[in-house]
Amino acid sequence: MDSFEELIYPMTMQEFFTQYWGKEHFVLKSNCGVCKDWMKNLYTWDHFNQYVNQYPDIKNLQILNYDDNDDRFCLDKVKSGKLNQPFFTKKQVYDFWKNGKSFVIPMAEYQNEGLVNICSGVENYFGRGCANVYCSPQPNSRSFPPHADSTENFLLHNYGKTKWTMYKEFKGEKPRTILAEYELEPGDLLYIPIGQYHKAESMTPRISTSIHFPNKKNQSLKHFKLGKENRSPYYNFKYFLNEDSDSKS
Ligand SMILES: [Fe+2]
Repeated sequence: MDSFEELIYPMTMQEFFTQYWGKEHFVLKSNCGVCKDWMKNLYTWDHFNQYVNQYPDIKNLQILNYDDNDDRFCLDKVKSGKLNQPFFTKKQVYDFWKNGKSFVIPMAEYQNEGLVNICSGVENYFGRGCANVYCSPQPNSRSFPPHADSTENFLLHNYGKTKWTMYKEFKGEKPRTILAEYELEPGDLLYIPIGQYHKAESMTPRISTSIHFPNKKNQSLKHFKLGKENRSPYYNFKYFLNEDSDSKS
């Protein structure tokens, strides 16, 4: 799965850009006639396990509410000294997980082929984006409070159930009016326009992935630009495969 057309199917490009783009959120349920089962394999507990098991030799790990005081542990900022937080051992990180803390993996798009392919496909219509993965070990793991993001956001649901609250207000206002609430499951897609307030809560152990993009420079319906963003060809996951190794063994 590597195109924006397929991601939002059965919605058309025309519908998306004229009715929703930058203005209005929408949900496409996996059971709306098009099975989006591929989302279940996009990020799995195996991917998560493989990544987090390499701690502390990993990038970007964040642990939400690690101190029960709503503070966020950011591994990279601790490593660089920007955050004055303790450097946790692997056992401590494991205990946070066992105690129900949500883990966030920002900029995870190069962790597997599926993630980088879908980002790359959507970038035909948007600027250079990235993937953040949200993993929660149990129901009611604390996540982010209501907030607004500065990118076009597509939420892909991989495992478990996530409750979403969408607010009417956009950045610059206060999130006051609840527009809609959804319980989203694997294969469901949620689009959140730039700046719209939203909140996510885990209802079960869950994995969800946000792929998010700035708009292309001066993009407008009148002068619409298309084109791939410049990703290095070396992201190709087949690049380092040793074709000879099979025949030799
Ligand atoms: Fe967000």
